[in-house]
Amino acid sequence: MEQQKRYGHFDDQHREYVITDPQTPWPWINYLGNEDFFSLISNTAGGYSFYKDAKFRRITRYRYNNVPMDNGGRYFYIKDGDTVWNPGWKPCKTPLDFYECRHGMSYTRITGRKSGVEASVLFFVPLKKWCEVQKLTLTNQSQEVKSLKLFSFEEWCLWNAATDMENFQRNFSTGEVEIEDSTIYHKTEYRERRNHYAFYHVNTEIQGFDTDRETFVGLYNEFSNPDAVVEGRPRNSHAHGWSPIASHYIEVTLQPGESKDFVFLLGYIENEQDKKFSAPQVINKDKAHALIAELDTTAKVDKAFAELCEYWDSLLNIYKVRTGNDKLDRMVNIWNQYQCMVTFNFSRSASFFESGVGRGMGFRDSNQDLVGFVHQIPPRARQRIIDIASTQFPDGGCYHQYQPLTKRGNNDIGGGFNDDPCWLIFGTVAYIKETGDFSILDEQVPFDNQPGTEVTLFEHLKISMNHVINNLGPHLLPLIGRADWNDCLNLNCFSWDPNESFQTTENVSEGTKAESLMIAGLFVVTGKDYVALCRKLAELSAGQGSALAYGEEADRMQQAVDAMIDAVKKHGWDGEWYLRAYDFYGRKIGSNECDEGKIFIESQGWCTMAEIGAEDGMVAKSLDSCKKYLECEHGMVLNSPAFTKYIYEYGEISSYPEGYKENAGIFCHNNPWVIIGECIAGRGNDAWSHYAKILPSYVEEKYQTLHKVEPYVNCQMVAGKDAFRPGEGKNSWLTGTAAWMWYTVSEFILGIKPDYDGIRIDPCLPETAGDYTVQRKFRDAEYDITIRPNGSQKGVKRVVLDGSAIEGTVIPYTPGKHTVEVEM
Ligand code: BGC
Repeated sequence: MEQQKRYGHFDDQHREYVITDPQTPWPWINYLGNEDFFSLISNTAGGYSFYKDAKFRRITRYRYNNVPMDNGGRYFYIKDGDTVWNPGWKPCKTPLDFYECRHGMSYTRITGRKSGVEASVLFFVPLKKWCEVQKLTLTNQSQEVKSLKLFSFEEWCLWNAATDMENFQRNFSTGEVEIEDSTIYHKTEYRERRNHYAFYHVNTEIQGFDTDRETFVGLYNEFSNPDAVVEGRPRNSHAHGWSPIASHYIEVTLQPGESKDFVFLLGYIENEQDKKFSAPQVINKDKAHALIAELDTTAKVDKAFAELCEYWDSLLNIYKVRTGNDKLDRMVNIWNQYQCMVTFNFSRSASFFESGVGRGMGFRDSNQDLVGFVHQIPPRARQRIIDIASTQFPDGGCYHQYQPLTKRGNNDIGGGFNDDPCWLIFGTVAYIKETGDFSILDEQVPFDNQPGTEVTLFEHLKISMNHVINNLGPHLLPLIGRADWNDCLNLNCFSWDPNESFQTTENVSEGTKAESLMIAGLFVVTGKDYVALCRKLAELSAGQGSALAYGEEADRMQQAVDAMIDAVKKHGWDGEWYLRAYDFYGRKIGSNECDEGKIFIESQGWCTMAEIGAEDGMVAKSLDSCKKYLECEHGMVLNSPAFTKYIYEYGEISSYPEGYKENAGIFCHNNPWVIIGECIAGRGNDAWSHYAKILPSYVEEKYQTLHKVEPYVNCQMVAGKDAFRPGEGKNSWLTGTAAWMWYTVSEFILGIKPDYDGIRIDPCLPETAGDYTVQRKFRDAEYDITIRPNGSQKGVKRVVLDGSAIEGTVIPYTPGKHTVEVEM
C-alpha cells in the first residue's frame, strides 16, 4: 500500500480536528452557525456566509470550481516590512513558520506564525445572532518592536447568489455601500425592494479602508497580491457599481511579548419597511449599532463563545458512549452527531459540492436527516416535520423539494418520486418515539401550503401509505414514478437529448410498468411502523370511539403490508438476492439475467430490514450476496457489475462512468441499510466489518491522501472498485449518510432504541466487543447503561434497572436518573 501523507489528526479532548498542513488534498471545511446566519469556512479561511438561504440571501461572494481552488473568503493580510502573509496561508501562500487550523463544533480557529508574529483567528457565529465573529489575536513573539499593517477583506455578494454570477449587465451598475467610522455597510438594492443590508465592522479605529474591488486589488492582480496591500496603502475607495468589497486598514504596533485582539463582525440586518432610512438614501443603522454593541469587546466575544461551547456540551451530552475504542467513540460522541446537525441545517444546499443555488430541501432527504438530530433538538424536528408535510399533495404525493426561505414546494422539479411519501412515516415515528409527543399527530397541516386545506398530520401519514397502495404495478409492487431513493434510476424518463433533464422528462410514463423493490421494502418497514403506531393510538384512546377506528386502520394496513411481502416473495426474488425493479416494459432490473447491474444494494438493504422471506432464507442469502458481489475494500458498491454503456431505458444511472456515483460508486448512504439488515439478522461481525469500512475515523487512519475529502465526516460517495481511483471520496458533509450512520450505530449496533414506552436495548456487536457504557438522556430521564456482551453478537439475556431485573428488553420510561445493567 502506498504510504499516505497525513494532514492532521483528531483532538478528542477539545472535540476538534487539527489540520497541520494548509495544502490538504481538497479544502477541508467546517460550518458556522446554528439557526439563521450560516458560514462555510475552509482550512485556509475560504468560503462564504448567508442568511437562512444560500441562494436568496448570500452575503459574501464565492466562486465555485475556481482556479486556484477555494479562492475568496475572509482574509487578513499582515504586512510586516516587505513580507505580506495570511494566518491561513492563502491567498498569499507565503510560507509560514507555523500553521494550524482547528475545526471544532461550529467554530474554526486558524493560527499562523511568521517572523516572530502570531496571528490567530477564531471564527464563529454566536447563538441567536445574525453575524460571524472573527476574533483576531496578534502576538509579538519576537524580541523587537513590530509595526504591522493589517488589512481585512470580504467581498460582497449582490444577494441572489445565482444572478450574482450571471446578470452582469445589471450587476455592474447596482452595487452600493456606506462607510461610517469603522463599519462598512453593503446596501445594494436597498433603495428598492430589499429591507436588508450587511456590514463589516472592527472594534477599533481604522486608518483607512477600501470598498471597491478593482481599486483595492488592481484589475490585473489577484487576491494574493492586491495593490493596496502590496503598497501598504489603502485607497479609501467608495464603490459605485462594479464589485463592492469591505476592507479595513489598521496600523498595529506591538512591543515584544505584546498581544492585541481585534473583533471583526460580519453582520446581517433586516429593517421594517417604514424604518428603512434615517435620511434620504441613508440606511437606518440602529439595529447594526445595537448588534455591534453586543460584541464590541474581547470579553463579550469570549462570553458568546463560551455560550456556544456550552450549547454543544448540552447537545453532545444526550448520547455518550464509552467503548474504549477511540475511533468509534469519537465518531459517535462528536463527529457523527455534529455532521447530523450540519445536515439538518443545510439539507443538501450549501457545501463545497453543492453550490447553494441548485436545490432546496429534499422531502425524503429532510425526513431521513431527522433521525440524526431528533434527540438533540426535538422542537425543531417537530417544526421540520410540519414544514415537510405542508408540501404534500392531497393524493399523498409530494413536492420532491422545497425552498427553506419560503417553505414552498419547488415547481421546477415537482413531484412523482414515489418513495417520498413513506419517508414522512419514518421521520414522524422517530420523532414520537424520541419525545413521546403524540400531539404532533393532531396538528392541522395544509396541502401544498394552501390555507383552508388543513387536515391532521395523522391524516397525512395515512394518505402517504395510501399513495403507495394506490400506485401498484402489474406485479402488485409499487410503481416507481420518476425515481425512488435512487434519483438516477429513471425508468420513465427516456431521453437521447442531452439538453433534457433525466428526472423531469416524463415522455413515456403513461402506461408504465416500472416498479420498485426498494419502495416495496421501504413500504413494509414503514408500514409495520405505521401499524404499530395505530395500535399504540388505539391503546392510548382505549374506551373512546377512535380506539376502534385506529384498530381497524392498523388491520387494514397490516393486510397491505402482508400483500406487499407476498408480492416481493413472488415477484421480487431472483434466487440469490432481491431484484431491484421492473422497467417500463416489465423487464427485470438487478437480476442474474441482466448483462450488467445484476445486483443492486437498495433492495437488499430495504428488503432485509423488512425481513421479507427471512423464514425461507432470503434475508441471509441476500446479505451474503452483498458481501460476495458488492463489498470491496472501501465499502459496498451500489450495483454490480457496473454499467459500461448507456442504457436508454434506465436513465441517468448509466450516464456515469463505472465506479462513480449511482453507477457502482460506494454510495455511503445506503451501506447502513445493509448493515441494519445484518443487525436485524443478528450478524454482528458482518455488520461491524461493513460499518468500519466507511467510518471516517478508520478511513482517516489509512487514507488521507487517497480519500481526499475531510476525514472527520462522511461523504456521499466513495469511488467504487470499478473506478479509476477506488477509495477517492466526493461530496462530503451534506449527505443522508450522516443520519443513517448515526441511526445504525446508536440504535442497531450499540442497541439503544427509543420506543413509545421507553428505551429498547437490543445491541448487535462483533464477537470481539468488550463491555461498554452509554449515557442516554431521554425525555426527562437519564440512563446510565452498562452492556456486557460476553462474546455474543446478539440477544439480551437480562436487564437490571436500578438494581431489579425487569421483564423483556424495554426499560420503561420514568423521569429521573437510572442505572441499567445489561447481560447478553
Ligand atoms: C439525493 C438523494 C438521493 C440520492 C441517490 C442524493 O444526492 O440527495 O435524495 O436519494 O442522491 O440518488
